[in-house]
Amino acid sequence: MPAPTQATDVASFPIAGWNQALPPAEQQRATLALESGSVLFFPKLRFALLEGEERLLSPAAAGQAKNVSLDPASGTLRGSGADEEELRLLQGMMTRFAAASASLLRNVLPRYAAALEQARTSYRPVEVAGRSTSWRKDDTRLHVDSFPSSPTRGRRILRVFANLNPHGQARTWRIGEPFEEVARRFVGSIPAPLPGSRVALSLLGVTRSPRSAYDHYMLRLHDCMKADADYQSHSAQRRFDFPPGSAWIVYTDQVSHAAMTGQYALEQTYHLPVEAMQDPARSPLRVLERQLGRALA
Ligand code: SIN
Ligand code: FE
Repeated sequence: MPAPTQATDVASFPIAGWNQALPPAEQQRATLALESGSVLFFPKLRFALLEGEERLLSPAAAGQAKNVSLDPASGTLRGSGADEEELRLLQGMMTRFAAASASLLRNVLPRYAAALEQARTSYRPVEVAGRSTSWRKDDTRLHVDSFPSSPTRGRRILRVFANLNPHGQARTWRIGEPFEEVARRFVGSIPAPLPGSRVALSLLGVTRSPRSAYDHYMLRLHDCMKADADYQSHSAQRRFDFPPGSAWIVYTDQVSHAAMTGQYALEQTYHLPVEAMQDPARSPLRVLERQLGRALA
């Protein structure tokens, strides 16, 4: 087994407002850190609830599901068993977070602004620890994000999180080794996609659009990491506590992460074409292409 390398870093920024402009030197520090695989951490960036919204601080807000999800473009809410009033509150809080996250990204990572695509918003009111699920869906295992039904064809997955916990409880992650190392460790054992299979999955409705070879490798990487118990316990990693009243930005397709404990978080997903990065060579797409010696998307 290769010697364990360094676990991924966390870069801290002391801003206290979702609309607070960052000086250009700080924007540059943020862009470099993020693209190098660091988590951008905002220890003083609280997402404040409005009067009445405390009612949403209950796992019941998600009904039978673990998350409530909102499509900010259409306003459609999914996964909630709440009554009319609670639905209205959820819609308000999540729409406000979608807007706050967009404003944060404009201020922290302005070079991405024109190319960012806002995807869904999610509210996570259920305690992470002890949720029973299959190994593949178990996010307490280190992994990089890749979703079977949502091919990205190389686009980045950028996520903004906020911890809303009212009881002083942190959201605790494990953060693993850099993407280059993750890929180097597993990619050689992943079989190439079968000719035709990716189009067939799309025609069968398993995927929303055809998977690229990139999506094939990322899904397998996600699974290889989660299925390897030795890797889970022995690879380079650190624990990080995101306290209540903090926020963080992370490329979850690049940063190996596992959510261990925590309750009441908001999350907003964005996609970004690799060409919009300052250094596209650091994207998982380009890293995998270099390691495999062929184009993947
Ligand atoms: C994950 O993306 O694996 C879960 C992150 C979280 O909910 O804190
Ligand atoms: Fe994840």
